[in-house]
Amino acid sequence: MKAVRLYAYGGIDNLRYEETDDPQLTSPHDAVVRLKAASVNHHDILIRRGLRSTPTPFPHILGSDGSGTISAVGAEVTNVKPGDAVCLYPASSCGRCKFCATRAEHLCGQRRLLGERENGTYAEYVRVPAGNCYPIPQGLSFEEAAAFPLVYATTWRMLVSEAELKPGESVLILGAGGGIATAALQVAASIGTHIIVTSRNDDKLKMAKKLGAEHGINSRTADFAREVRNLTNKRGVDVAVDCVGGEGWVKSFAALTKGGRLVTCGAAAGPKSQADLRRLFWNHLKIFGSMVGSREEFRQVLNFMSTTRTKPIIDRVFFLKDAAIAQQRMEAGQQFGKIVLSM
Ligand SMILES: NC(=O)c1ccc[n+]([C@@H]2O[C@H](COP(=O)([O-])OP(=O)(O)OC[C@H]3O[C@@H](n4cnc5c(N)ncnc54)[C@H](OP(=O)(O)O)[C@@H]3O)[C@@H](O)[C@H]2O)c1
Ligand SMILES: [Zn+2]
Repeated sequence: MKAVRLYAYGGIDNLRYEETDDPQLTSPHDAVVRLKAASVNHHDILIRRGLRSTPTPFPHILGSDGSGTISAVGAEVTNVKPGDAVCLYPASSCGRCKFCATRAEHLCGQRRLLGERENGTYAEYVRVPAGNCYPIPQGLSFEEAAAFPLVYATTWRMLVSEAELKPGESVLILGAGGGIATAALQVAASIGTHIIVTSRNDDKLKMAKKLGAEHGINSRTADFAREVRNLTNKRGVDVAVDCVGGEGWVKSFAALTKGGRLVTCGAAAGPKSQADLRRLFWNHLKIFGSMVGSREEFRQVLNFMSTTRTKPIIDRVFFLKDAAIAQQRMEAGQQFGKIVLSM
């Protein structure tokens, strides 16, 4: 098969589009999927740069998100059969520990993402546990089905399960162009909340407003915490979605109302912050961290996509062979929504 393989930590020149062996079934519970599409996540770039704590085997195929048709299944598989169109739940856990047994598998010590240590979806075929294959929500193309799983499962956990976002509340979403941010925007809009977004780019603010944001703040030219106070009559927002991190985290804290909730799953601008901890207890704030939603949350996302006919926001579709250029676009922060790879 053709795949894009990473040969060393570093820049995009370490990604090679080349011929490699097709994956084979290694367990009676596995499935092999003939991929039609994959999507690029910020996480792929962190792995490529060697910024993850777990070592990567080289050469390695990146990619946590994918969709396609089942090409082979192990002897024990009953949930899918060859030819079925599927999208992939992007995480695996041990299936035996107390967390896995109680629908809290996101806390499993052996939790890992597809494409982290095992070969991922920047390829024509991928081997996955068959239990990670789910029917594609009605009305979604293969490209759309590869664009939503990781960012939606993560966003759902943060906004719906943890922050328990309610209709009428106010939400601040940072970095409007990101995959997580556009998913958060769609979920928050569907719940009926007042949405403020930030971006370094005015065009992205305009696009976010078309998707339901009431206000957009340019985070390069304005102090967004102060702007949020102005826009909310000094009150602040109920929930902040901050996957940008870095120095801006201080401002996200400052933009929250008393009892406000901050949710985070990443730090695209850097992992260090000088947040004033007194704000946390003075204002009764809550912080929720998240690494991908559980299978149950993924099921809720699939239902959400089907019943609301929501389609993920796609920025651009590249051919698989151009995965390096696709990553470059994300690294430069040029995207609005998900970047997809088509096989
Ligand atoms: N834990 C999990 O399960 C999980 C799942 C998905 C993602 N994540 C993490 O969450 C973060 C976002 O992921 P993503 O896939 O949405 O990434 P993305 O598509 O690259 O979006 C990140 C956004 O953050 C803003 N940004 C990036 N660099 C910045 C900088 N230096 N300064 C200020 N703003 C910056 C940009 O928004 P503007 O251009 O609009 O300003 C960008 O679009 C990443 O750290 C990723 O690793 C975690
Ligand atoms: Zn477990």
